[in-house]
Formats: sequence, C-alpha cells, structure tokens
Amino acid sequence: MSSHIRIIEMGPRDGLQNEKTPVSVEARIAFVEALVAAGLRTVEVGAFVSPKAVPQMASSDVVLRGVSHVRDAEFHVLVPNEKGYDAARAAGAKVVSVFAAASEGFSRANINCSVAESIERFKPVLARAKADGVRVRGYISCVLGCPFDGEIKPKAVADLAMTLWDLGCYEISLGDTIGVGTPLKAREMLRAVSAELPVANLAMHFHDTYGQALANLYAGMEEGVRVIDSAAGGLGGCPYAPGATGNVATEDVVYMLEGMGIATGVDMERLLGATNEIAGLLGRPPVSRVASALNAKKKRAA
Ligand code: HMG
Ligand code: MG
Repeated sequence: MSSHIRIIEMGPRDGLQNEKTPVSVEARIAFVEALVAAGLRTVEVGAFVSPKAVPQMASSDVVLRGVSHVRDAEFHVLVPNEKGYDAARAAGAKVVSVFAAASEGFSRANINCSVAESIERFKPVLARAKADGVRVRGYISCVLGCPFDGEIKPKAVADLAMTLWDLGCYEISLGDTIGVGTPLKAREMLRAVSAELPVANLAMHFHDTYGQALANLYAGMEEGVRVIDSAAGGLGGCPYAPGATGNVATEDVVYMLEGMGIATGVDMERLLGATNEIAGLLGRPPVSRVASALNAKKKRAA
C-alpha cells in the first residue's frame, strides 16, 4: 500500500472546463491562490485549447501569468498541439500535459483526430519541451470505458502508456473519464500498465460519475500508485464525454487519506473555503460528500 500520496489539483481546469456559468479570470486566479494556500502544491490551472471548443478555458494565459507570483507551487496546463505549446510557453508554462485517449471514438470527439494522429501532434511538443527543459505529463482518457466505443482492454491502455512514456512523458495519468470503473477493473488495468512502466510514474485520474472513484483509488493504492488527480468540491467533467460528472473530490480524497494516517499537507478548513467560494460563484453546493457533511456540521453548530 502506498504510504505517501501526491495530489494534483484539477479544479481550475477539469473542474471549470464544463461549467455553464462563466467564471471570471480574476475568480479563476483567486481559486488557484486559495487552493495553494490550502496546501495543494500542484494545480492544473488551464488549457491551451481552441476557445471555440472549450470557451471556459479561454484566457488560460492570463490565469497562468496571474498566478506566477505564487511561491512553492507547480502549475500545469493542457496542450493538445504545438500551437497550444507556443501559447503555454509564452505565458511561462514549466509543466505541460498532452492528452490522448485509449479509444478512437473519444479521441475523435475530444481532439478531432485519431489516436495515432494525436501521437504525431505530440511528438514535436515533446521534442521542443525536452530542449526547453519543460516537463510533460501525459494523460490517457477512457482507460476504464468509453462513451462511444464501450469496453477498453487493459492492453490498449498499457500500449498507449508505453508510447507516451517512450516519447518522454515523466508521468502518465490514467483517466476514467466517464467514471464507470469498479475496483477490480481498475486494479486489472493498473497491473497491465505497471507491468510495462514504473508504478511510481503513474497517476490515477478518476471521475466519480458512478460513485466508485474512492474505491478505485484505494485499489490503485494497493497496487502502489502514489499520485491522485482530484478536484476541489468534486467539480468537473469533460465537454466531450456525455454523462460524465466531476473528478473525485479533493475533500473526499484528503479525508480518506488522513483517516488512513497518510499526511496530505492539506488544510481541510481552507480547502472547504476555496470550494465554497467557487460553488457560490457557480450557484450550487459542492457535490463532494465530505464538503457537504462539513458544511452541514457548521450549519448545525451555528
Ligand atoms: P482541430 O480542428 O483538429 O485543429 O482541433 P485545427 O488545427 O484544424 O484548428 C482548428 C481551429 O482551432 C483553428 O482556429 C485553430 O487556430 C484553432 P480557426 O481557424 O477555426 O479560428 N486551434 C487552437 N486554438 C487555440 N489553442 C490551440 C489550438 N489548436 C488549434 N492549441 C483541437 C484540435 C485539439 C485544437 C480541438 O479539438 C480542441 O481544442 N479540443 C478541445 C479539447 C479539450 O480541451 N477537451 C477537454 C480536456 S481533455 C479532458 O478533459 C480529459 C482529461 O481530464 C483526462 C480524463 O478525464 O480522461 C485530461
Ligand atoms: Mg478529466
């Protein structure tokens, strides 16, 4: 069982990319600042994608520049191609993430190309990043099921993970994009991938659509995976993944880990403050079970 866990906070990117209510750039910056102040030292803050495709992530350059004063934190941004890489670099990005899919259907819907074509798009990004001293994280979506193609074989995930690893990604984040996975399937998939590349370089990015994300994370921790992607309040979803809800909530992950004696460095009270602030702007309460329980407890005590 993993004894140390690194949390990568997704709220400002995955969390906000699918929200109908517009969130100002100032509020996005304040959200990132509040998350770092709560102890989340690695935060994905935006995406350099087409603003026509995902208007919520427009002005990610302003967000990235706006948080450049924040110390002791690492900021990640998505880049789908060289155009995105250019813009991310111009805004000061030091870590970028490319994103592929384990299924052809999702690749086409999400980034308008086949899986093989997406790898060709990533090659120059990886080559330039290496020359620039920029670290590149690689995502694989739909590792436990695809909204278009259905079942995904663990071997398909493992093969793609190897491809991204060979291209130079330092970490592969395995996405259950539509949150359909269950623990034994998650374990099987993680075993297949970790048979090919070091488990220390894998991350779990599980959406919680069917309420299985914590159980799946626990199964992954038993396999030795030490990196978890989560979003404050359980925000999130992908505009190209019909029916998918948010990432596993950071509050829920922190509560589980602390309960297992695994220190996270996250101040739950401050995290709850950040979550409630953004939930107020979005006009609905957080879906996180722990955030809801803590908010209800506060209300009773008031
Ligand atoms: P395309 O149509 O194949 O690309 O889109 P294109 O090169 O033909 O360009 C089309 C237009 O997009 C042009 O503009 C380009 O300039 C522009 P137009 O001439 O029409 O005005 N363009 C860009 N603009 C800004 N930044 C760029 C960029 N590239 C082209 N980097 C593209 C390909 C990838 C750009 C498009 O499909 C896109 O932006 N898709 C959005 C993908 C996305 O953000 N999805 C959500 C994030 S992924 C996710 O949530 C999953 C994850 O969380 C893991 C998990 O849960 O599984 C990571
Ligand atoms: Mg996601």
